[in-house]
Formats: sequence, C-alpha cells, structure tokens
Amino acid sequence: MSSKETDRSDKVYQVEKLHKRYGTSVVLRDVSFELASGAMTAIMGPSGSGKSTLLHCLGGVDKADSGSILFHGKNMMCMPAHEIAELRRAQIASIFQFFYLLPTLTVEENIAFPLQLQSMPGRQRKERVATILSQVGMEERKDAFPNQLSGGEQQRAAIARALITRPKVILADEPTGNLDSQNGRRILDLMRELLCPQNIALLLVTHSEEAAAICHRTWKMQDGNLIT
Ligand SMILES: Nc1ncnc2c1ncn2[C@@H]1O[C@H](COP(=O)(O)OP(=O)(O)OP(=O)(O)O)[C@@H](O)[C@H]1O
Ligand SMILES: [Mg+2]
Repeated sequence: MSSKETDRSDKVYQVEKLHKRYGTSVVLRDVSFELASGAMTAIMGPSGSGKSTLLHCLGGVDKADSGSILFHGKNMMCMPAHEIAELRRAQIASIFQFFYLLPTLTVEENIAFPLQLQSMPGRQRKERVATILSQVGMEERKDAFPNQLSGGEQQRAAIARALITRPKVILADEPTGNLDSQNGRRILDLMRELLCPQNIALLLVTHSEEAAAICHRTWKMQDGNLIT
C-alpha cells in the first residue's frame, strides 16, 4: 500500500481553514493540517499565539467561526452537542498543566470515572483500572485523594484517566508545565510508552524542547498561523 493510501484510511483529524476570533482579534487564521493515527506532534509557539484555543476547538469545548474539523471523517463543526459530548467521553481525551482531578474522588475513582459514564459493568471496569494503575505506577496510591498526591503523581493519575477509555487522540496542553524536570521527564517517558503501542495520536502543546522531542515532528504556532 502506498503511503498516500495509508494516509487516507488513517486520519484522526483533517482540519481545513479553521478561523476564530475573539471580538476583533483573530486567534486562529485558516489553520489546516492532518493528523494520522498514532502520530505524535508537538505544537510550540509564543504565549498568546493560539495554541490552547486550537486544542479547545479540536476537543469540542470551544467553537471556531469557520472552517472544518473532520474527526475520523465526520465534521465536528456540524455535530450536535450530544455527539460532541459522546466523542469526549470515548475518543478524545485531554491532559492539562493543572491536572484537574476531581478532588472528592480517590485516584482509583477518578480513573474509573470515564468508564462509569460509559456504563461499563463493574468487573470489567475494575480490571481495566487495575491494569492502567500498574502501567502508570500508581497501585499503591490508588486510595489517595488528589490533594494527598505530588504533582507528578497527580499527572500520572490524570494520564491514566485520559487513557482508560482507549481514546483515538490525546490533546495535551503543557502537561509538564507544572512539574520539575525529573517528574516532567517521567511523564514524557510514560506518555511515549503508553501511546505508541496503542497507536494513539498525540497533539502536545509545549514550551519545552525536551517535551517536543518525544514527538515525531514539531509544528509552530505564530500569531494564529499554524506552520506545519
Ligand atoms: N475566552 C477568551 N476570550 C477572549 N480572548 C481570549 C479567550 N481565550 C483566549 N483569548 C485570547 O486569544 C489569544 C490566544 O490565546 P491562547 O490561550 O490560545 O494562547 P496560547 O498560545 O495557548 O498561549 P500560552 O502559551 O500563554 O498558553 C490570546 O490573545 C488570548 O488573550
Ligand atoms: Mg495556552
């Protein structure tokens, strides 16, 4: 099979001329790109250039003014809210700088939460959570609450929660931005180890060259333009 044919059958995102403004200021200027299954791509660029806004649009939590976002061939710009919510429950996962674990749930409960939303039966859920707890090295901390964890541990729990539904893509916005370099490196290693074998695509927004280096390529965001 030629690489072109592989590409056609294998796209997570096909984005065309995505345009967004806040008031009079243009934040995304005709952003276009394609992201294949399993492709790990870093996006770097100055503060305010539109990186987080792009991830919000791709995750369906913000809406662009025009253009199209095909997710596995289906245009998110035309999807009703419940379909977007469904994508976010199962196929598009996010990781953030400040973790956003639910404070009243334990690590184990936080990780299981997306499966509960999918009404997965209890036994199957427990098995899947146990596997991922061991993959991220958090078995011994499974009964802790988020405020009892270090930053690195919180991010490992957040990665487990993001991966538990076996999503097609992870949208990560500065996931090591709040960690010291050692913990940051551990999180990057973990992401690479867990995403590659499962063929999960990654869009990694980062200010760190070291973080970008785990990806296959780096794109640049500048004043709302994405240079691929
Ligand atoms: N909800 C909003 N309302 C108005 N303006 C916004 C909103 N969100 C972002 N902006 C503006 O859009 C521009 C792009 O913001 P964005 O958060 O995407 O930048 P960024 O590249 O992620 O920056 P950083 O590296 O600092 O996180 C900025 O000028 C920002 O002030
Ligand atoms: Mg940002």
